[in-house]
Amino acid sequence: MKNEYQKVEQAKGRPLLQWVSKKPLESVQFYPAQETEVYGDKAAKDFNKLFWGDNLQVLSHLLKNNRGAINLIYIDPPFGTGVDYFKKIKIRGEIIEGSYSIFEEKQYVNVFEIDYFLQFMYELILLMREILADDGNIFIRFDYHFSHYIKVISDEIFGEDNFINEIVIKRSRNEAGSSNKLETSTETIIVYRKTEKAVLNKIQVKRSLANVQWTDFTMAGDRNPPQRTFFGMIIYPAKGQHFSLVQEKVDRIMKDNYLRLKCKDCGACYYYAASEADLHKRMKNQKNRFKFYDITNDTKMYAVETVEKCLSCGKKNFKVEYLGSEDVTIGNNWMDIPSYSSTTGYPTENSEQLLERVIQIGSNEGDTVADFFMGSGATQAVAQKLGRKWIGCDININSIQTATKRLNQIIEDQQKEKTKVFKGSLGFKVLNVNDYDVFKNEIEAKEIVMEMYGVEPVKRTYFDGILDKNFVKVMPLNRVLNKMDIRTLIKSVGDKIDSFTVKAKSKAGEAVYEEGVLVICSGMELDVPDFIKKENKTGVKIEVRDILTDKKNLIFKKKPEAKIEVKAKDKKLAIELKDFYSPILMRKLEIENENVLKKDHKAKVEDFKQIIDSVAIDVDYNGKLFNAEVMDLPEKRDVIKAKYSWEYPKKGKYTVAIKVVDVLGEEYFETFDVNA
Ligand SMILES: C[S@@+](CC[C@H](N)C(=O)[O-])C[C@H]1O[C@@H](n2cnc3c(N)ncnc32)[C@H](O)[C@@H]1O
Repeated sequence: MKNEYQKVEQAKGRPLLQWVSKKPLESVQFYPAQETEVYGDKAAKDFNKLFWGDNLQVLSHLLKNNRGAINLIYIDPPFGTGVDYFKKIKIRGEIIEGSYSIFEEKQYVNVFEIDYFLQFMYELILLMREILADDGNIFIRFDYHFSHYIKVISDEIFGEDNFINEIVIKRSRNEAGSSNKLETSTETIIVYRKTEKAVLNKIQVKRSLANVQWTDFTMAGDRNPPQRTFFGMIIYPAKGQHFSLVQEKVDRIMKDNYLRLKCKDCGACYYYAASEADLHKRMKNQKNRFKFYDITNDTKMYAVETVEKCLSCGKKNFKVEYLGSEDVTIGNNWMDIPSYSSTTGYPTENSEQLLERVIQIGSNEGDTVADFFMGSGATQAVAQKLGRKWIGCDININSIQTATKRLNQIIEDQQKEKTKVFKGSLGFKVLNVNDYDVFKNEIEAKEIVMEMYGVEPVKRTYFDGILDKNFVKVMPLNRVLNKMDIRTLIKSVGDKIDSFTVKAKSKAGEAVYEEGVLVICSGMELDVPDFIKKENKTGVKIEVRDILTDKKNLIFKKKPEAKIEVKAKDKKLAIELKDFYSPILMRKLEIENENVLKKDHKAKVEDFKQIIDSVAIDVDYNGKLFNAEVMDLPEKRDVIKAKYSWEYPKKGKYTVAIKVVDVLGEEYFETFDVNA
C-alpha cells in the first residue's frame, strides 16, 4: 500500500550549516484534517483556519492543496531547545525520573538537543518555503540563542540573495548582564523572500526617540538662489548642493526646532528659542522630547533667535541639521514599539503593533498570512483586523482556545461594524491534524482514513471507494473488525459479483477476478485473517488493512476510562480514584517509544497516577456549573493523591461530580449521587 507523499524541493545552496544527523527532507506524508468547530459567518466563501496540531504535520497537510498559496509567514518559535518543539507526552512522578524524555533519546551517540532542534527548524523552513507564494516573505523571530543558526539555515534554503533584512526589536524584559556578559535588550526578526516578486511595502511611522536622526539639510543638485537665512545668518550650501525648502518654510521649521545649527569645529548646537528658560520648557514638553534626544550633559547648546559666530569657540563654520518630517519610513530598527504584550494571559504574546508592521510590510489586503507557532493568535488577530485571510497552528490546546476566543470577538465586532469592502473572511474553522475523533462523526472519520490512503470515493454502493484495482470497504473505526463483519462482507461481494471482471478460471473452473477487495479497519479480532481464508469462496481476493499497524502515526481519539469509588456516610464523603486508563495516551506513548532505541529510555507508566494532571471535585454539583471544592493540582514532579475526603455541613443527598484531566489534556467526567 502506497502512502501519499508530498514532494519537497531541495534547499538552494550555500552557505551550509552542519549538525550531527543533518538530513535532507525529500517528501512528507500527507495528513488529512478534521474539522471540529466553525465560528463567525458560517456561510463564508473562504474560511480562515486554525489548526490544532504539530506544525510539521499541519504543513504536510497544507502542502497538498495550498502549495504556493501563502503570501506571508510570521513565526516566533519558542526560544531554547527541546521539550516544546515536539508533541511529547510528559509523564509525572519520581518513579520514572530520567527515563521519560523520549525525544531526548540519543539516536546516535552524540546527537544533542540542539541537533534535533536545528533539524526541526530546517524541515520546517523547507516546508514553509514550499507553501509561500512567489510574492511571499517570511519573518522569523528569534533571540541571540538561535538567530545566527537560523539565518545560515535560511540562507541555505532560500538562497542568500533572498535575504531581505534583519530587524531589531525590543526584548520584553532586559536579560541582566553578568561579570562576563552585557545586558541584552533586543531580539531579532530575519526576513527572507521566496523570489524577487516579493511584496515589500514601505510603511510610514510616526517619528519617535528610537528612529530620530538629525541629518544634513542639504541635498544634491544646484538651485537658484542657493543661500538661505538661518538664525539671522546667510548660509550657502556646498557646491553642487542645495537647501530644498523655501525661506518661509525654513523659518517655520526652524522655530519649531526641526532645524538646528551645529558648529563644525566644536560641536556646539544652536536651537531656536527666546531664552534658555524657553528652551528648557520646550525640552520638557513630552511631544518635543524627541527633538532633543541626543542632548547629553556634555553637549554645548544654546538657545538663540539669531547668531553670528559660535558662542563657544568663536568660529563661523556652521552646518545646518534637519529632523525630517513627522512621519518616517520604517527601517530595521523597531525599538520604538513593544514587541510583547499581555492582553490574553498567554505567555510570550507578541504585541499587535509589531504584527501590524510585519503584516503591512509583507502583505496586501486579501492576502493570506500564516503563523505556525500561533500562541495567543496575535498574528491572526492583526491579519483579521487588516483584512487579510489567515492560517494559524499550534500544538498547545490552550493556544487554540485563547486564539479562538480572541478571533471570535474581533469578528463579532467586525460584523457589527459591517465594513463594506472587507477582503478578509468573517468565518473561521478549527481543525485537528492527526488527532482524529472517530466518536464525533463516523462518516468524517471514514473520509479521513480514505484521504490518508488516497482512496477514490464512490457513491451509493456497498463499497466506499476504489484504490488501484481494489474495491475498498472502510469498517467502523470506533470498534475492532469482527467475524460478523467479514460474513456480511463476503455476502455483499457475492451479491455484487457482476461488478467484478473475470480474469481467469481456476483449475476447478471457478472464476478468478481482476479486482480485489480491500478492507480498512481499526483493530481486528485475532482470527479474522484465517476466517477470511476459510469462508471466502467468491474468487475475489479480500485483503485487510489495520490502521493501527499499517498507519502507526495516525492518532485517533479514544475517551479515557476511570474507576472511581465514592463512599458517603454521616456527612462524610470519601473518594478514591482506583484506576485510570487513556487509550489515546497509551497509543501515543507506544508510538513515541518505538522511536527510542535504548530500552531504559522508553517511557513506562508504572502507576496510573503518572498520567493524570489534575483532579477536581464538586461535592454538591447542580448539574450545570462545575464548582470545585476539592482540587488536586500536583507540582510537575509530583503525582495526584487519588484519595480525597470532605465533610458536609449537614446530612443530605448530594451529587458529586469528578473531573480528571490527563497529561494530554483529555478530560474524564463522572457524577455520583450520594446520601451523606
Ligand atoms: C513563543 S510562542 C508564540 C507566541 C505568539 N507569537 C504570540 O504572539 O502569542 C511559541 C508557540 O509555539 C508553539 N509550538 C511549539 N512547538 C510547536 C510545534 N511543533 N507545532 C506547533 N506549535 C508549536 C507553542 O505551543 C507556543 O504556543
